[in-house]
Amino acid sequence: MKYLKEKMNNKQFLKSDFCNYNSISGSNKIIKSNSYNCSRVFTVLAAILLIIAFSYTCIQEYEKNTFESQFLKREIKTLNDGYLSKKLEDKICSITSDIEKFDCFPRGNANQDSCEQRNCCWSPIDFNSKPPWCYYPKNYNNYILVNMTETNNGIMSYFRLINNTTYTSDIKLLCVEISFQTIKRLHIKIFDAENKRYEPPYPEVPTQKNKELLNSEYTVSMDKSKVAFSVIRKIDNVVLFDSKSVGGFIYSNQFIQISAVLPTKYIYGIGEHRSNLTLDMNWKTYTLFNHDSIPTNNINGYGSHPFYLIMEKSGKSHGVFLFNSNAMDVILQPTPAITFRVIGGILDFYYFLGPTPAEVITQYTEIIGRPFLPPYWSLGFHLCRFGQTFSQLIEVHNKTINAGIPWDTHWNDIDYMKNRNDFTLSDDFAKLPDYVHYLHKIGMHSVLLLDPGVSSREPNGTYPPYDVGLKQEIFIKNSSGLPLEGQVWNRDGGTVFPDFTNPKIVNYWIDQLSRYHNLVPYDGLWIDMNEPSNFVNGDWQGCAFNDSYNWENPQYIPNIQGGVLKYKTICMSAEQHSGRHYDLHNLYGFTEAIITQFALTTIRNTRPFVLSRSSFSGFGHFAGHWTGDVFSTWDDMSQSITDIIVFNMFGIPLIGADICGFNGNTTVELCSRWSQLGAFYPFSRNHNSEGCIDQDPVSLGQLVVESARKALMIRYSLLPYLYSLFWKAHIYGETVVRPLFFEYFYDENTYEIDKQFLWGSALMICPVLSKDEIHVNIYLPNDLWYDYYTKEIIISNGSVFTLPAPPDTIPLLLRGGYVLPTQVPATTTKLSRKNPFGLIVTPDKSNEASGYLFWDDGDSLDVWENALYNEVHFTYKNSVIISEVITNNYIDENVTLHNITIFGVNDVPKYAWINNKSCETYFYNKTENVLYFQQLNVNLFTKFNVTWA
Ligand code: NOJ
Repeated sequence: MKYLKEKMNNKQFLKSDFCNYNSISGSNKIIKSNSYNCSRVFTVLAAILLIIAFSYTCIQEYEKNTFESQFLKREIKTLNDGYLSKKLEDKICSITSDIEKFDCFPRGNANQDSCEQRNCCWSPIDFNSKPPWCYYPKNYNNYILVNMTETNNGIMSYFRLINNTTYTSDIKLLCVEISFQTIKRLHIKIFDAENKRYEPPYPEVPTQKNKELLNSEYTVSMDKSKVAFSVIRKIDNVVLFDSKSVGGFIYSNQFIQISAVLPTKYIYGIGEHRSNLTLDMNWKTYTLFNHDSIPTNNINGYGSHPFYLIMEKSGKSHGVFLFNSNAMDVILQPTPAITFRVIGGILDFYYFLGPTPAEVITQYTEIIGRPFLPPYWSLGFHLCRFGQTFSQLIEVHNKTINAGIPWDTHWNDIDYMKNRNDFTLSDDFAKLPDYVHYLHKIGMHSVLLLDPGVSSREPNGTYPPYDVGLKQEIFIKNSSGLPLEGQVWNRDGGTVFPDFTNPKIVNYWIDQLSRYHNLVPYDGLWIDMNEPSNFVNGDWQGCAFNDSYNWENPQYIPNIQGGVLKYKTICMSAEQHSGRHYDLHNLYGFTEAIITQFALTTIRNTRPFVLSRSSFSGFGHFAGHWTGDVFSTWDDMSQSITDIIVFNMFGIPLIGADICGFNGNTTVELCSRWSQLGAFYPFSRNHNSEGCIDQDPVSLGQLVVESARKALMIRYSLLPYLYSLFWKAHIYGETVVRPLFFEYFYDENTYEIDKQFLWGSALMICPVLSKDEIHVNIYLPNDLWYDYYTKEIIISNGSVFTLPAPPDTIPLLLRGGYVLPTQVPATTTKLSRKNPFGLIVTPDKSNEASGYLFWDDGDSLDVWENALYNEVHFTYKNSVIISEVITNNYIDENVTLHNITIFGVNDVPKYAWINNKSCETYFYNKTENVLYFQQLNVNLFTKFNVTWA
């Protein structure tokens, strides 16, 4: 805690200071001086002489050196052949196929003249076809190598601009720094060698020790004639990222572009957006600019995650992260190839070599931060709605409890606030504090919504959150230095936005939250509208025009909804402590999540729970996410599977969609099926919009109640398994929910499956996703499976199966080879944690299985760091189950293992032993082929064995 506070106060913000845009003199300088002035020419000449002299020494050194560079064998050279006079070669426009064309006139209407002015090739084709008419010649190039030097763990090269592009202020001298960081991680950073440009202050990626690395699994091949490189997997020579055979590299002040050919079309990630699991390679643009919009195809979403994962032909996988928080378009085309078009910052790439998809995510989260460990109660069921009075709340509470539906947390939307202002309580909700106390008494929890925007038009002196914030100068400023004022929900018509990059915000936020916590002792916070969303575009005063022209209207505007950057958000020229909003926009929700989780930890001194709508890479270290304002449609329900899978790849395993849909009225059948699916979201919450029909399970009648109760009972029984998966995510960066190809990466049939998903390796969830269906058709990879309900064995060699799906039931399968820890379910996690534990054993084809349990009190801080947890491993082989206690530091009053259920037992056991003593409390179900041990009364956290014969 103390450390974190110091970190917040010093380390993190020092870094932000360093990145303060105001200190990036170069960017501004370059904008102003398009032509060289005399002193600049002298400086440049002097620098050239120095570089030449230095390079000469380098060559001598290199020639002397017999060490065979693993990364650039014999490629290190200095070109001193008069680059100033170097002319562009004749452009090569003969490109064999349209899919190899890279757009040279993005987001504009080209004609032959304007195209050729860009030194590009013009070749009109069919009006309706997607390949560009104006495309880069293969040898398109604006830079020339001036020096290349070997470093301890990589290579450093400098490239000089030799030809201005049509984009304003091309960067004159680029440095390409290649670092072989680990055997499987490569870092390539391309930046302005002369002037510091903006780099995101978060996430704080670990810095690399500069040690020599000899056995990396990749090589990099640099192009000596232009800024281009390819990354090659050594073992099979597959080129993972090839920018050498593509033109179009541009590095100007507000337009940076790089393209690369990819090894296959199986690419995943690049969020947040609505699409299939495998991204669309058909000339598709994915735009990353955090934005409040109902999730819709082709519209930029709430968060930004410039990360992708690719499945290669061999079944190997790799991932690429572009660490850049500026607005960007990412274009995929059928070559297959990718283009990044970014409007600020630098190119800062990390390559993760996997080779399994699971390892790629582990390597990625090692850089951006492992997911936080959620409190146990937050894995229970959550109920919420927008547009609810206090008496309606009480009514829903009572009927949900009476229906025996497992339920842990009640949520309050902005209805509880006065005038929809943070840190207030409306008259209607005057009894909310009593209700929250009551929830605690019955073992339940409360989460409150909080918007980042603070009301700015309450009468003077009546609203401390504004008055104090104004005094402390923690609100984002417009370019005149005054708080920027927009409007969000606040009824009085004005909203100012806390700057979560300002070190002073920490105390301000803690003060506001703790004051409110004294009134309403909430357990978690739901931070909404933090893209940041704004109901006016920019500022009530308008965004400053003159000074900020380039920020509001850069030469290239990515394909964002609304067409202008300030659309439904604040001005790009707005000033924050760590820089200009133009650069920091995509980090707004992320920084709010960091500060909020810190404040919550300080106030409650237990594990924080924060759910946020907006996110950025690394956000999963601090908070969870839900998929926003989805519609109550079958299509949106189906889409939610892709969303939860992809957010797991982004290192945000605590993810879910609003069960039964948010916008629009749900139906009984849809809500019934969605309640079944939602019980298997890592974050399981039913939430509804203002004005829609009630959709809490009881309001929709018996079928929805049955579906919810049945599926949630299964969820609650499997919580020890789910929680252990979260532990693995927290410590090792594993995914909780995963697509089939994460486990069956050698089976190409799994690469596009997004209608089924797995919890860990062992449980497959196969929801019904359309109306009037009572069966599901699913693909089962080559393996042994068990029907969760009937216990029937299904042996698949990789084919499609049909499973029954009665209206109140979600088909579930267990995979052979696993031991899953369980607990007898109850209606709250507080109660279920007191119930006896169990194990489900599903032997594989070789009659073996294994599994594990992580267990702690579910709420304390730093349990891993202080080793205050228990870890038990289970193995099963040929009628013997053995446990091994790895760690046993958490003393729980409940340690009893009562039930063990072994699937697929073919022979009737005649004897059984527990810890080598005869045991009678078992029975064998011949129809099911299942052996049930009951009332074992064994201590789960001491070594035990169970045997039968
Ligand atoms: C937008 C959120 O996405 C939604 O979940 C919430 O109900 C409304 N804001 C009102 O607070």
